[in-house]
Parts: sequence; C-alpha cells; structure tokens
Amino acid sequence: MSVAQGLELREIWHRYGSHSPPVLRGVSMRVEPGESIALMGPSGSGKTTLLTVLGLLVEPTGGEVRLDGRVLPKKGAELARLRAAEFGWVFQSVNVLPRRSALDNAALGLLARGTASADAKRAAEGALEAVGIGSLARQPVHTLSGGELQRVCIARVLAARPRFILADEPTGQLDGANTEGVIAALVNNRPLGTSVVIATHDPLVAGHCDRVLRLVDGEIVPGGASR
Ligand SMILES: Nc1ncnc2c1ncn2[C@@H]1O[C@H](COP(=O)(O)OP(=O)(O)OP(=O)(O)O)[C@@H](O)[C@H]1O
Ligand SMILES: [Mg+2]
Repeated sequence: MSVAQGLELREIWHRYGSHSPPVLRGVSMRVEPGESIALMGPSGSGKTTLLTVLGLLVEPTGGEVRLDGRVLPKKGAELARLRAAEFGWVFQSVNVLPRRSALDNAALGLLARGTASADAKRAAEGALEAVGIGSLARQPVHTLSGGELQRVCIARVLAARPRFILADEPTGQLDGANTEGVIAALVNNRPLGTSVVIATHDPLVAGHCDRVLRLVDGEIVPGGASR
C-alpha cells in the first residue's frame, strides 16, 4: 500500500492554557504535495494557531501530526530539524535588513543554514527572478515598495526550496496591484512540489488557491470552495 504523502492533521485540539477554552476543536486536514490552500475565517477563529501547528512551532494539546504517513514526535531534535529543513514562513510583518540589497536579504535564509555564499546568492538571484523583481536585486530594500519588499521575503523562502510554505496574511497591508504580484510569487512561482497554506481575509488571494478551508470557532466548516 502506498503511503499518503504530505502533511496531515488528525483531530487536533489546542488550548493556550489549561483553563482557557479550546482554540482548535478537532481539526483534521491534509496538505497534499504541490497544492495551495487558503485558510479563511473570522478574526480569532484560529487561523494563525492552525498555521503554527502545521509548521511544527506549537505542540497541540491533542491530536496527531503526520508527515508522509508517519506520526511526528511531539518535541525534540528530530522535530526541530524537520521544522528548519521542510518549512518556510512568510509573515505580514516584514523582517528584513533595510540597508542591505534585495539579493542579500533573499540569501539570508540559506546563509543561516550554512549554505556557501556563492550558492546562496545564485539561488537568491533565481528566486528574485521568479517573483518578478530580478532587476531590483542590487537595490537596498528600504527603497522598495511594500509589495516589492514582501516579494523579497517570499524569494528568501523560495530560495531555500522548502516542501511547505506557511503564510500568515502576507498581503494584509498591500493594495490590489501589489497583492496580485505577491500572490503570483507565492502561489504561481513555487518550486515544483512545494505546498502553500495562506491565512487570509482577502477573497482575491483565496481565488488564486486550489481550495479554501474555512475555520469558524476552531472548527473547519463546510463551504470552502475548490477550483
Ligand atoms: N499566545 C496566545 N496565548 C493565549 N491566547 C492566544 C494566543 N494566541 C492566540 N490566542 C487566542 O486564540 C484565539 C485564536 O487566535 P488566532 O490568532 O489563531 O486567530 P486568527 O484566526 O489568526 O485571527 P486573525 O484573523 O485576527 O489573525 C483568539 O481568541 C486568541 O485570543
Ligand atoms: Mg491570525
């Protein structure tokens, strides 16, 4: 029997304190290789919490996380290694070195992993091209627009070729034109096989994803659309 590839949550429950109400209530979902998922739902419904469980950053109170059919350990070195090797994060608040070039910033993730400088720069250059800002590689990032800056951050993640990209409201502060550019970078220009899960309130973003998961009060509810 072939093993189910991808990342799977089974009956995930999470509460932030033993006396707090559960924030995730029995969430089961699977992220298939290469697919894009928009995670939608009201503020406070648990989207960011669910992303942190998917990204192995938070140990859920209950339930199983499986990678390629294997139940992952709850903590330890193996989990930390997987987290660093297989996952890339894109946040709304951009985290860059403002006076350094787009290229330097895009190479940061690989350099932090110990990749040789020339190799990191080559991969970063390719990723900047892929997200449509190759011509801005030498420009200090404090001179870039919000959408260009966000694309530098996406290039940084793409350059590392993770299996899973988790993005938390990556277009929250952008106008429509910049949103289109960022989504094209995140959804359309991924390396083959990379999956992306995007928490978003923006229907424009959701419209570019393969499917939509809707979270209400910590539960996945029917009504998500597929393309
Ligand atoms: N570190 C924390 N400690 C305690 N409670 C938390 C923590 N993080 C989130 N919560 C609570 O968990 C619930 C879900 O929060 P979460 O951030 O996952 O929602 P969200 O769907 O991402 O909301 P938004 O759309 O506003 O970003 C909220 O009630 C929030 O107050
Ligand atoms: Mg959130």
